[in-house]
Amino acid sequence: MGWASELLVVMSWLCVVGCARGIGANWGTQASHPLPPSTVVQLLKDNGIQKAKLFDADDRVLSALANSGIQVMVGIPNDMLASLASDHKAAERWVAKNVSDYVHDGVDIRFVAVGNEPFLETYNGSFLQTTYPALQNIQAALDAAGLSNQVKTTVPLNADVYRSVTGKPSDGDFRSNIHDLMLSIVKFLSDNGAPFTANIYPFISLYEDPNFPVDYAFFDGYSSPIVDGSFTYTNVFDANHDTLVAALQRNGFGNVSIIVGEIGWPTDGNMNANQQLAQRFNQGFMNHVSSGNGTPLRPGPIDAYLFSLVDEDEKSIQPGNFERHWGVFAYDGSPKYELDLRSTTEAAAAAAVANSSSLVGAKNIKYLERKWCVLKPSVSLDDAEIAPSVSYACENADCSSLGYKTACSDLDAQGNISYAFNSYYQKNDQDNRACGFSGLATVTEKDPSTSTCKFDIMIDAEAAESWKARTLTQLNLLWCIVLPVIVTFV
Ligand SMILES: *[C@@H]1O[C@H](CO)[C@@H](O)[C@H](O)[C@H]1NC(C)=O
Ligand SMILES: *[C@@H]1O[C@H](CO)[C@@H](O)[C@H](O)[C@H]1NC(C)=O
Ligand SMILES: *[C@@H]1O[C@H](CO)[C@@H](O)[C@H](O)[C@H]1NC(C)=O
Ligand SMILES: *[C@@H]1O[C@H](CO)[C@@H](O)[C@H](O)[C@H]1NC(C)=O
Ligand SMILES: *[C@@H]1O[C@H](CO)[C@@H](O)[C@H](O)[C@H]1NC(C)=O
Repeated sequence: MGWASELLVVMSWLCVVGCARGIGANWGTQASHPLPPSTVVQLLKDNGIQKAKLFDADDRVLSALANSGIQVMVGIPNDMLASLASDHKAAERWVAKNVSDYVHDGVDIRFVAVGNEPFLETYNGSFLQTTYPALQNIQAALDAAGLSNQVKTTVPLNADVYRSVTGKPSDGDFRSNIHDLMLSIVKFLSDNGAPFTANIYPFISLYEDPNFPVDYAFFDGYSSPIVDGSFTYTNVFDANHDTLVAALQRNGFGNVSIIVGEIGWPTDGNMNANQQLAQRFNQGFMNHVSSGNGTPLRPGPIDAYLFSLVDEDEKSIQPGNFERHWGVFAYDGSPKYELDLRSTTEAAAAAAVANSSSLVGAKNIKYLERKWCVLKPSVSLDDAEIAPSVSYACENADCSSLGYKTACSDLDAQGNISYAFNSYYQKNDQDNRACGFSGLATVTEKDPSTSTCKFDIMIDAEAAESWKARTLTQLNLLWCIVLPVIVTFV
């Protein structure tokens, strides 16, 4: 064995020890009826998802992750960056409360994400001054807490912080208006052995550019690939990723590791957002990851977090109606399509004993009753109250499945109105007062769903939070007893 092959053996051994294995998932909680955290942790385990990326440091979520064996990236929301940047004591408190305490309780925290895509051009520069100082203060707090070997900082950045003016990945560099800032951050990450985190969205490329070649967004071949020196790019993920690698190399940081913080495809809310394309993209990406080949400029494992685990019905739809439909699982933890998340070796081993390539759904979900709120059949479609009622329902609930070439685009006018009413009714836990709409609406036990358009029934939030609910009821009861006593004696 020559020294080169010995080096390879040592390197692959190091990789077994140090490299992040398997796929991760983003766990967002902007939902009106989120799944109980313990249910989500079981969902992650049942599907072999070994890493969870969070957008904040929610106590219920982190507590459920304790001793789960799942590696965790906790997040700092952008609106906390200013205070953490200006006050190192605030950063110390954040680390003490949101990292140290949980590490002590058995949560396997590996990363702190400082901000979330803070340099997005749509944020107008709001976080340009605060992100880097906040990163420095959090790192210093981790150092002081003695955690900096096991917990690394990073900043999840949108892929628009780098670009290639020629379109060739090898010409990649950081955006000119933030070039110096990016270099300071990258140097800091490099000095601390921390990764660069980039969110890469082929769906958005397609969404923003009607001329974008559809096949180039996927992983199963493209007839006009980009030829860049000795490399050929047949999918935009590799090209985008290597534009970042080139930007890092050009500036002297070619050895900084990369995490793909978000990658995925939505299933509704846009003509290109459906289950077929989402499956094609996500399975293509999973096969790419499990091949272990990496990208032309970074051969080897890809460390990535799918966006997203479950749908979130309260995400802002300002970027587009698809925002509420990124989940591999629906709002209730049911799988939307077949997806094999296992690595090729794991899959081959599993195939010998079982034959399932399906996702495993969430278990023991309690739903509200089987009833829906719909437009009364007797109401005339000319009724002047309809339009304002539908607007109200859609503003306060979720109509993002209505529209051109979406799951519910086959509904007739009545169906559209009923969909809006029902969404509002379910979101309000089937409260009768939420099915009024000036007398236009009525509750039915007949499922108005069509073959493509599901009229959802929400999760029973009270059953899901029975412990919390019981405690609250007991507290209320306690006050019912204590208050009269106090009142009587004062
Ligand atoms: C810990 O994180 C939570 C959730 O993001 C946040 O609300 C809280 O302010 C943080 N605690 C401290 C001490 O900063
Ligand atoms: C963005 O910046 C422009 C110009 O500085 C300003 O007029 C606008 O109000 C800003 N928008 C937001 C959302 O901050
Ligand atoms: C990259 O190289 C620099 C300088 O040689 C070193 O300090 C740093 O730890 C390296 N980073 C990684 C991620 O290997
Ligand atoms: C494999 O699939 C067959 C038919 O779909 C089914 O009957 C059988 O139980 C499956 N085997 C395992 C081990 O899941
Ligand atoms: C249903 O609503 C959608 C979105 O609001 C609209 O585009 C569509 O035209 C409506 N369909 C009918 C038949 O009214």
